[in-house]
Parts: sequence; structure tokens; C-alpha cells
Amino acid sequence: MSKQETLSPPCHFVIFGATGNLATIKLIPSLYNLEVAGRIPVTMNILALGRQEHSTESWREHVDKVLRDKFGDKVDAAIAARFAQRFTYFMGDLRDANLYQRLKDCLAKKAAPESHIVFYLSIIPRDFNTVINYLDEFGFSRPLGLHRIVVEKPFGTDLETAQELNRVLHKHFSEEQIYRIDHYLGKETVQNLLVFRFANTLMEPLWNRNFINHVQITVAEDLGIGTRADYYDKSGGAMRDMLQNHLMQLLTVVAMEPPASMEADSVRDEKVKVLKSMRIIPVDQVENQVVRARYAAGSIKGQPVKGYMEEEGVSEDSNMETYVAATFHIDNWRWRGVPFYLRTGKRMAKTQSTIAIRFRHPPQHLFHEGDLEEIEPNWIYLTLQPTEDMHMEMHVRAPGLGMKTRMVSLNASYRQADEKPLEAYQALLLDVIRGDKTLFIRFDEVEWAWRVVDNIQKAWAKNTAPISDYPAGSWGPDTEKLFECSDQEWRND
Ligand code: BG6
Repeated sequence: MSKQETLSPPCHFVIFGATGNLATIKLIPSLYNLEVAGRIPVTMNILALGRQEHSTESWREHVDKVLRDKFGDKVDAAIAARFAQRFTYFMGDLRDANLYQRLKDCLAKKAAPESHIVFYLSIIPRDFNTVINYLDEFGFSRPLGLHRIVVEKPFGTDLETAQELNRVLHKHFSEEQIYRIDHYLGKETVQNLLVFRFANTLMEPLWNRNFINHVQITVAEDLGIGTRADYYDKSGGAMRDMLQNHLMQLLTVVAMEPPASMEADSVRDEKVKVLKSMRIIPVDQVENQVVRARYAAGSIKGQPVKGYMEEEGVSEDSNMETYVAATFHIDNWRWRGVPFYLRTGKRMAKTQSTIAIRFRHPPQHLFHEGDLEEIEPNWIYLTLQPTEDMHMEMHVRAPGLGMKTRMVSLNASYRQADEKPLEAYQALLLDVIRGDKTLFIRFDEVEWAWRVVDNIQKAWAKNTAPISDYPAGSWGPDTEKLFECSDQEWRND
């Protein structure tokens, strides 16, 4: 048996929505990277289902093109050819039973009966129910525990639809088979935050309301919605596409208590406790604690770009936000009174995700010269992407006469120059193939996160006033009202 086969159980992979954006930019390149790393079982077939017209041959050429677009001349031709051979393409409509029959016939020929089959739903949320019901009808949900179903976020569009989707899933699949993916948990920098917090005794005594003034979490993108209006303008928006899931997950990792172990449920138990402690913003307070807006025309990297309303496929009467910022509170012993400021937006000044933790001022400023200004506070500043950087900002004495201070940066970045970063999806896809659920979301996490944001959505639904704009390429609309103290503001560096 080859080295590849000994690493993972027999497994086959089915991608629903293979011609879509996610499959093109994340799934196919990440599966290829796993191929390069020798982590895909030798016998694994990948069945790609999509609406575009392709034969299996032309699809394999398409896969090769996707890889070359992504990796350029770094693509290893022999490995890419082997990888492309794994694919069989099925053109069809998800609502057509015939597609599932063809899939079944193909798997009956290609997959040994004891194989795990992974069904990856890389499709718009409104098609989830249809596919799940058909998978059951054609016998793919049984025997319980054997096959796996991967569901992309957003999981529902509010608490009620999330619960309904969960009911449908549980009607046919056991919890053990369900993988709710939030790729932010697969990012190495996010996992590093767990190590930073729980492998160092230095941090823990400071990581609470006694020392921390506030926390900022930013996920900014300079990209617009591209060709995804069909999803984004109906089921997306910055709240449902990003804040309810990616930013909430980042918040839980910053705020959680140390878990009993790194075993999946211990970690998730602690994350759920954070979500349960979050203060629900009353509907009539949403106006003061949440800002939403959408991008207008502007420029990105010197190039003019369209506004959201001019993007192809966006409806004329759309009231969808592409930016949201909010102030949240976690009412527990560790965090009561510490604001968590969260923001995310498309077509922002740059693509950058950061977590910034500001500490309190020292009780006394001994080192001022003349003026009595507050001494700058300490920060822990983590950049999750595009670079991976972690540093602490601290005072030292400025050389020369007098007793002035200046800020220095203690670098805690963890990657050595010759270590290549892993794509989040690469790690998560391997986990699905191996059956490890630590980095996947449990339903109660989804449910509690919806409880936190549902009131915000309710307030927005009542408010029919047109949504305000920010110019593409800026840092978004005015959010001053969100800050609880006059010396608090976003860090955009
Ligand atoms: C996805 C959202 O989940 O995350 C996209 O649907 C967003 O709208 C993307 O662009 C951002 O992911 P990353 O890893 O590029 O920060």
C-alpha cells in the first residue's frame, strides 16, 4: 500500500456547485495543494456537479486552467495531471432527480461500499434543502455515520431558518456526519491565537476587564461582490455573509475561557459560553450600536470601480449592506464593561484582517515632559491576513537627554521566512477527509450567534430608510457613535 493510502481512509469527494466562485478560488486549489502534499487517498475520485456545460475531458482542462490562474508557473504539471484525472463532471440541475441517479450510478462503479463519501454543498443557501432531501432519497445519508455532508455558511439567514435547516439535516443525517464549515477557523493565524493565549502564562493574567480597555476586530476587503450578486444580494449582506459567522468566531476565540482540552467539544463548549454571555442589543438601540452602509463608486489601487447598486445582478430596490460595524458586550466575569468593536466591509481601503487589543492606561503618567497628556496605552496587535504578524506595543525610554518614552514593537510573529502559509481550506478539507471535527461549528454556536444578530436584522427590516453609502476604497462610513470613549478609534494601520 502506498504512503498516501495509509494516511487516510477510503474516501470520495462530491462537490455541488463545482463551477461556482468558492469551488474555483478555494476548493479546487486547496484539494490540489493536498495532492501536492500527498495527503489525498490514492483512490479518491472527485465528482464535480455544476450547471455549466462541460464534458469530463473539458472539465479536466478547466481544472488545469484554474490551477494555472491561481499558482502560475508554480504548478507541477505531473501532479496537476494526476489531480485532474480524479475528476468526473456532471452537468445538471440540482432540482432534477436524474442528476442524483447519475451520481449514484457513477459512485456504485467507482466507490467501494465501505468508502466515506463527502458531499460538499458549495451552493447558494436556498438550494440546501433540495440537495439534502435528494441525497436522502437516493440513499446517500445511510448507513448513518459513513458519509459526510459539508455545509457552507451562512447557515440559515436568521435564527428561525437556521433551526429549520438544522431540522432538515438532522432528519436525514446524524450530527456526526454534519460538518458546518467556517473557513476562518482553518486559518493558521486564528489557531495561533489559541496557542498564544493558552500556551503562555504571561498572557492569561492580563486577558480580562482589569487590564483590557477594548477589543477591535476588523475584516476589511478591497474586493467587491464580483459575480456573486445572486447569492449576496438575496442571502448575503455583510451581516449574514461575514459578521454572524467569521467575525463572531474570531470574537469567541479572543474571549473564550481556557478549554478543558483541545478536543472538539471542549473547545466548542467554551465558545458557546461566550456567545451565550453576549448582550443582545434591543431593537430600539440598534440605531446607536450598529452602523451599516454600502459602497458607492470609488477607486481601488488607483482604478475606478463601480458602486454596489451598479454591480451586475443587484436588484434596483436592493437595500443590502456591504459594510457593518457594531459594538458588542460580553456580560461575564472576564469581560463585563469591555466593548468589542467589530467591523467588516467590501471595497474598503485595503484587504486586511486584524484583531487589536488595547490595554488600559497606567494609573499614573510619570514620564511626561511639560504636557500632561495621557501616556499611550499598550496594544497587542494581530494581523491575520494578508500578512501574519503579531506584535505588542510597549514603552521604552527614548535615548537622549530627559526621560521621555517611545513605543517599540515586540514582535511575536511565528512564521519563519522559509515556511509557507497553508490555505484555510486546505486544513479543513483534510479534516473532513479524515473525519476530524475540531475546527467545525456545532449547531449551538450557530444558534447563539444568530440570537445575537437577529434583533439587528429585525431593526433593519423595520427601517425602510435608504441605506447610506461610503466611497469604494475608503475605510467605510462614519462610525464615531459606536465608540464608548472619546479616545477610542479604529486602527487602520
Ligand atoms: C467568505 C465570504 O465566507 O469569506 C466572502 O462569503 C468573503 O464574501 C470571504 O470574501 C473572505 O474570506 P478570506 O479568507 O478571503 O478572508
